[in-house]
Amino acid sequence: MKRWFLILALLLPALLWRWDSVTVTGGAELEESRYVALTFDDGPKRGSTDRLLDGLRERGVNATFFLIGEQIAENRDLVARMADEGHQIGNHTWSHQRLDQGADLQEELQRTEEALEELCGPGPYWLRPPYGQVGENSVIEVPMVKWSVDPRDWESRDAVKVTQAILENVQPDSIILLHDIYPSSVDAALQVVDTLQAQGYHFVTVAELLALNGVDPQPGQLYRTGRG
Ligand code: NI
Repeated sequence: MKRWFLILALLLPALLWRWDSVTVTGGAELEESRYVALTFDDGPKRGSTDRLLDGLRERGVNATFFLIGEQIAENRDLVARMADEGHQIGNHTWSHQRLDQGADLQEELQRTEEALEELCGPGPYWLRPPYGQVGENSVIEVPMVKWSVDPRDWESRDAVKVTQAILENVQPDSIILLHDIYPSSVDAALQVVDTLQAQGYHFVTVAELLALNGVDPQPGQLYRTGRG
């Protein structure tokens, strides 16, 4: 009995402090802020990317899209829409080459950058290297983005499994990897947004996530989470 009293006495200040912080700041919104970034590779793809953009707009969500350069010309409207609607756009090479296996780095990166600049204005357009790999001695002049949550959506192509894998592994400041070329991944992304928004999470671009953490992105540096 005595021991329970002691535990309660120890816990009480913490409970009161918590209560106080909630009442002062006012409700669920005031809980500790939790931010994550959804990222989508290998698009744009008509019929899939546009459905995702519709869903994100309905939910007030900003995401980050790493585009394949050679797919830009036939999807100019989708790319312009991404920029207009506040999403971050990045470079995923011109033809999805592994940059650590002798791909022409300049060709793969510059050509995509030029296509993006023509359509959306001056960069920098951050890089997500295909397969997360760059050559050891490559000189990359923009920040690079990896991820901390990978539901392997390309493998299962199953919205339920992908949703579950994300929800089991997500935490504040996660960078989540998905591919908007699969309808199952679009379904999963929107389900994840609905579930996590209900838990108080906010969805922002990778650039916003780093900025929220006071991280100043550096050229050639690889970022895996919002904290670096
Ligand atoms: Ni890819």
